[in-house]
Amino acid sequence: MAAHPVPSHAHNAADLSAVLTNTNTTLRNASLLSALVHKTQQLPPIFVEAEGQRPVLEMGSPPLASTHVIPIVDMSLLSSSDPAVRASLVEEIVAACEKYGFFQVVNHGVSENLILRCETEAHKMFELPLEVKERVHRPPGTSFGYGANTWVNQTVMHWAESFHMQLHPKSNIREFSRKLFTESDYTIFSSTVEKYMGQIEKLGRHLVELLTEGLGLEPTRFNHYVENECMMSMRFNLYPPCPQPELAIGLRAHTDPHLLTILHQDEIAGLQVQIDEEWITVNPRPDCFVVNIGDLFQVLSNTRYKSVLHRAVVNGTSKRLSLACFLNPPLNATVEPPPELITTERPPVYRPFTWGEYLANAYNFHPANGGERHERFFLEKS
Ligand code: OGA
Ligand code: NI
Repeated sequence: MAAHPVPSHAHNAADLSAVLTNTNTTLRNASLLSALVHKTQQLPPIFVEAEGQRPVLEMGSPPLASTHVIPIVDMSLLSSSDPAVRASLVEEIVAACEKYGFFQVVNHGVSENLILRCETEAHKMFELPLEVKERVHRPPGTSFGYGANTWVNQTVMHWAESFHMQLHPKSNIREFSRKLFTESDYTIFSSTVEKYMGQIEKLGRHLVELLTEGLGLEPTRFNHYVENECMMSMRFNLYPPCPQPELAIGLRAHTDPHLLTILHQDEIAGLQVQIDEEWITVNPRPDCFVVNIGDLFQVLSNTRYKSVLHRAVVNGTSKRLSLACFLNPPLNATVEPPPELITTERPPVYRPFTWGEYLANAYNFHPANGGERHERFFLEKS
């Protein structure tokens, strides 16, 4: 496919440098939104990725065919009366987490209707005028609220809007919802989001037990990480159609710092996982959730399960929505593998740390900023 010319004109150099250096999300949001509203044919320079970081697309969309496929696990088999069926399902999950750090689940028990309702609420939220969304903007250096999604020290902006909310330990969903919607709409938004996150949390706890069992441990061994004061959040990611998708990125390559991520993508492709130096598209299946190991589970498993680089690419024609739920331990929980997982073949790799300590570094120490976060916690560096 013929490449479009790379836009070389900055609309106004002064404007641009103000956006780049401004940590105020309002300006960044406005700059994203103005690019969308004006439907420019050329991607504004602030969204142009460095060469070498740009995605390879086919006909303007991520390629669907690949040598690797992220396995799909049928959770209805768990209730089989045959213990061998259950055991092989756990084996499938373990193999996927060792090899890809990703798997998908189908027949997961979350109703299709609830997923659709949550997607509808997410679209309603993103379609609000910028001044309304600004009422819940995410202040610099904080985690929750609405914002153009950009990381610390990053000068190129993601082609995406995002809205991040927390259910546990203290929900901010109703407060956000009240600021966004009128009286009659706000309960619909908050109750739908709470219900969806509650169901995902339940699924997440179940998956943590299966993953723990797969390590040869008592299934409940890690439950204290995901009960009571655990942290549970969800980020809506909206990737608008992009005038030059081969030059932009929706969400730059990263690993999730969390314990476990459970993501739902709509029918538009965009999520890619890096396997053997190749970017593999996770073909969208709206009846599936995509589950991935976060950095913390990699640590708990003493590196048996892998927290793998992934990214979201954008396309020229369709907007794409993903609902990303993150399950995490309480902030003060110490994260370290149990002694059973430390062997001569697999010696300890990380020093113990708390999730709070990890989170404090999570978004400024990053592959895109020249390093892996986990490296900070290697034993020899402590
Ligand atoms: C994330 C993420 C991918 C997507 O939110 O951490 O990796 O497809 N999202 O939106
Ligand atoms: Ni991610």
